[in-house]
Amino acid sequence: METCSAGAAGMSLAAALPAWAADAKPKAYAPALLVNERGDPLKASELKVQANYVFHYPFEATPVFLLDLGKPAQPNALSTHDRSAYSWPGGVGSKRSIVAFSAICAHQLVYPTRDVSFISFRKTRAQRGVQDGLIHCCAEHSQYDPARGAEVLSGPARQPLCAVLLSYDPRVDSLTAYATLGGELFDEFFQKYQAKLSLEVGSKARNAVSGQVVVRELERFCRNSIQC
Ligand code: FES
Repeated sequence: METCSAGAAGMSLAAALPAWAADAKPKAYAPALLVNERGDPLKASELKVQANYVFHYPFEATPVFLLDLGKPAQPNALSTHDRSAYSWPGGVGSKRSIVAFSAICAHQLVYPTRDVSFISFRKTRAQRGVQDGLIHCCAEHSQYDPARGAEVLSGPARQPLCAVLLSYDPRVDSLTAYATLGGELFDEFFQKYQAKLSLEVGSKARNAVSGQVVVRELERFCRNSIQC
């Protein structure tokens, strides 16, 4: 199994982790194979380029954007708002173009629900955008560059979106989520939206995802994706 920059069949995920910056620590969660809506393993090569896909990881209620950027995403040195440095390892897949980030805005935790999404990847520049190909949050216009580890390019967010690390198995063209890297905001998210999540997701909102997780295009997951 290939991980972000190193891999060998049979090697444990921990042993296969790349060399991280001094204070960078990926946080491991139970591995979850990405599957399509039929429950079959998602083929990385079948992802539409520059399309928004959503899955939930590492908890049932925490959404993640999955993107094939169509070009290699190189590693990038980043830091959280409390100045913990970390090295985002770049994209995975045969073209190293596939990336995943928590879809919870690092400013005030806006996130995509089944009813509405104010945050998404934009192939072309948003109205108040600074360039094409960014994740844009319509709430206060924070913008993140998914090709650079979701680094903040504009707006009030003070740290990148938290990265979700994927391993890629080239033998079967599959993807597995196994860790996060960067500024997690899950505690704040569950605290802020406790009542809302209990209506949307029920009592399993904070259950850990494991085994497999369904990936959907944002348009199939969410009824109203706001474009601003
Ligand atoms: S919540 Fe996203 S910019 Fe404020």
